Amino acid sequence: IKVYVPRDTTTLSLDGNRVALEIIKEAESRGEDIQLIRNGSRGVFWLEPMVEVETNQGRVAYGPVEVRDVTRLFDAGFLAGSDSHKLSLGKPEELPYLKKQQRLTFARAGIIDPVSIDDYKALEGFKGLARSLQLTGQEIVDEVKASGLRGRGGAAFPTGIKWQTVHDCPPDQKYIVCNADEGDSGTFADRMVMEADPFMLIEGMTIAGLAVGATQGYIYLRSEYPVAYDILKEAIDNAYAAGYLGSDLLGSGKTFDLEVRLGAAAYICGEETSLLESLEGKRGLVRFKPPLPAIEGLFGKPTIVNNVLSLAAVPYIMSEGGQAYADYGMGRSRGTLPFQLAGNVQQGGLIELAFGPTLRQLIDDFGGGTASGRPMKAIQVGGPLGAYLPESQWDTPLDYEAFAAIEAVLGHGGIVIFDDTVDMTEQARFSMEFCVEESCGKCTPCRIGSTRGVEVIDKIRSGVNVEANLTLLDDLCDTMIHGSLCAMGGMTPFPVQSAFKHFPEDIDKAIAHST
Ligand code: NAI
Ligand code: SF4
Repeated sequence: IKVYVPRDTTTLSLDGNRVALEIIKEAESRGEDIQLIRNGSRGVFWLEPMVEVETNQGRVAYGPVEVRDVTRLFDAGFLAGSDSHKLSLGKPEELPYLKKQQRLTFARAGIIDPVSIDDYKALEGFKGLARSLQLTGQEIVDEVKASGLRGRGGAAFPTGIKWQTVHDCPPDQKYIVCNADEGDSGTFADRMVMEADPFMLIEGMTIAGLAVGATQGYIYLRSEYPVAYDILKEAIDNAYAAGYLGSDLLGSGKTFDLEVRLGAAAYICGEETSLLESLEGKRGLVRFKPPLPAIEGLFGKPTIVNNVLSLAAVPYIMSEGGQAYADYGMGRSRGTLPFQLAGNVQQGGLIELAFGPTLRQLIDDFGGGTASGRPMKAIQVGGPLGAYLPESQWDTPLDYEAFAAIEAVLGHGGIVIFDDTVDMTEQARFSMEFCVEESCGKCTPCRIGSTRGVEVIDKIRSGVNVEANLTLLDDLCDTMIHGSLCAMGGMTPFPVQSAFKHFPEDIDKAIAHST
């Protein structure tokens, strides 16, 4: 009997390993013959550890399972798929949270053993690579262009155009760099790819290499993801052993090598040029652009730098065709975006949907209300550099252009919920302070501006010359937006200004609190 207990970071932090051991122990003591498989998470985090059992009718799930539940689950006949235990969830794919999603990138997450090539192949894995090996580089680039895929790291630059730039550089050593330095608060989609379906990323990077003539890839992984690191390493070893990496890919005579490199816990190393500096062994300082990394990137060579989710979308695009991907979405936002619901929310997790529904629909359909049970007050979308949205903006469609029109960003798809106890002036201060902590220090508006910004916010919050200091803060934000070298200093004003603009009543509350 196959029993699945996830091995992803979320499940492990919820005692998943002890649950797995307890299941083995209990099965042994009862003489039950089980095969324990460590899958990835399906992204239904509030039900983790979600244990699944393979039955004649398919897989059935139980969760959240604690160590103390295991004996009773066996007593209730969970190995036979019984639904008599209170933790019984029925078929996982029938959970409304999963059923309502449009999973293209995360179609295999939680279903397969992440390091099993056979599992991956059984669910369409490596089909995109096999097809790409029959095509020219330009044909692959054209397919990615046809998909309408835009960079999922946050900037939403058209992936096919970036690939075209690298493709058109004269033949030379070229590189594929995967940005896996997922630093945005409340985000975990990159981690989920690497922990639940790493071959998809390996396949996407290999296809990128074939498209532009690059033979070497690097995954730049944040050091805070040790579980993803172990799983990636295991998956890469298995891919080499089976001929999906290395020289003579699947007997084609083509080569692609891949290594994982660990960062050192600096948020700014998620910015592509400081990431490249760090990969080269230097301090993670932002570079001037131009030259673009696509032309002079790693070690001065043409380089694709793409986020995990962008590269992970490629196998589907290459196996099903660019048009099949472009059929999802709205306007210029094609395909799906894996949204990550976090913060003060009942049902946090990963929600992959085509662009188009409103933020409110997503929250209502999936969130289940705040964890505190109190009313929602603000939603921050797009990470620590994204705006705080008041309820009047929750009917905005989840679309890059619609968000830009309200001076907000979708970014990497992180959605963080706050209830009505939040002090938005404190959040504004936090956003500015984040910039103080994480600035690389190369340019003045960000390095000095953020420190002065915290001081000005402190004055506003304690009631010192409030009107004059609000004007000063606006001037300072204007300088940061227009004078900063990269998005760190250039976007920090978005959460700061949105907090003061949309929640002015919190200023008086903060002043009252300070006196
Ligand atoms: P950007 O707009 O400067 O560039 C976007 C990408 O397009 C870059 O890779 C750039 O090299 C490339 N590019 C631009 N023109 C090109 C051309 N003609 N040919 C080929 N490539 C070209 O944005 P940037 O600074 O790279 O990213 C900022 C974004 O990062 C923000 O919008 C923010 O949402 C996001 N972000 C994401 C984080 C995460 O954890 N995923 C953390 C912090 C910020
Ligand atoms: Fe460095 Fe900040 Fe300037 Fe970016 S904006 S280059 S992080 S100092």
